Amino acid sequence: MPVITSIEDLRVLAQKRVPRMFYDYADSGSWTESTYRANESDFQKIKLRQRVAVNMENRSTATQMVGVDVKMPVAIAPTGLTGMQHADGEILAARAAEAFGVPFTLSTMSICSIEDIAEHTKAPFWFQLYVMRDRGFIERLIDRAKAARCGALVLTLDLQILGQRHKDLKNGLSAPPKPTLSTMLNLMTKPRWCLGMLGTKRRQFGNIVGHVSGVGDMGSLAEWTAKQFDPQLNWGDVEWIKKRWGGKLILKGIQDVEDARLAVDSGADALIVSNHGGRQLDGAESSIHALPRIVEAVGSQIEVHMDGGVRSGQDVLKAWALGAKGTYIGRAFLYGLGAMGQPGVAKALEIIHKELDLTMAFSGHTQLKNVTREILLPGTYPTA
Ligand code: GLV
Repeated sequence: MPVITSIEDLRVLAQKRVPRMFYDYADSGSWTESTYRANESDFQKIKLRQRVAVNMENRSTATQMVGVDVKMPVAIAPTGLTGMQHADGEILAARAAEAFGVPFTLSTMSICSIEDIAEHTKAPFWFQLYVMRDRGFIERLIDRAKAARCGALVLTLDLQILGQRHKDLKNGLSAPPKPTLSTMLNLMTKPRWCLGMLGTKRRQFGNIVGHVSGVGDMGSLAEWTAKQFDPQLNWGDVEWIKKRWGGKLILKGIQDVEDARLAVDSGADALIVSNHGGRQLDGAESSIHALPRIVEAVGSQIEVHMDGGVRSGQDVLKAWALGAKGTYIGRAFLYGLGAMGQPGVAKALEIIHKELDLTMAFSGHTQLKNVTREILLPGTYPTA
């Protein structure tokens, strides 16, 4: 077993252990992947000011996201097909997040269902909602999330239609995988994954199959999205969803100041500056680049979070310094999950936390709450 010290170590191990179609699903962006790459590379352009001879004792990275105490300003992002990276993946990731002290967000397009997560955790988890044409189904989903005592609803606004990810089409992505020759040959090289899958009954989209009449086999994600997701989603829908839900609402997928203002008008509790991990509009700017503009426009009226490209504690600190009161990790936790299951997600969280804690100290701070953009080297970070 290799010694794991970084998120990159987890990625390398996940690539070995997870069937190609699911590893590729997680680790790709749309079309040329320019936004996917920019999310990471724009973080690296931001430089930190090194401070010395500052008392570094008694440090804390604790804060709150939408009023929830968190050990660090990081939540697990909602990612589709997580239970295909590892058997029972969503349950394992939710348990790791709970033990660590950060929120877990379950995707509508998860393999384990809302009820599965509620049964296997105690802390309230968050639920991410996609809006589909069948409003009755959406109402039932919201009610199921309420019954499961979810702590927040994360409404995704940037995926009414699916961005094209070349590898998913080439790999014939589906859950469960279809037994083609190339898939079977690839699965033969992933015995650990296969054993896990043989040991679970959760191999389909758990929130959907059995809950929508006539849906037994969903085929490919692309086909399902094209048929079922509502291309007419609008701000009026946000209003009725907010009313029906009645709890904390987080709007995901905001990159533009005008949309950020509409998010404020909607009365949501937080918004997430996000380009869906570079999986939707290829050519959109990176999230960390958009963040300061959104914070300047609406940061005093709504809690601003961000996702996209967060692979380290340094990234979390840079986003915080630019005004993000919370960040979300998608690929970083999926790599941990694919590599080692629940201990792998715990490892990913520990790695990021340690990096955050030490980077904060090297920057001359002991309390995250006191960290501002003063820790960044002028001229190296994006501004409004
Ligand atoms: C949907 O959740 C996706 O990005 O694949």
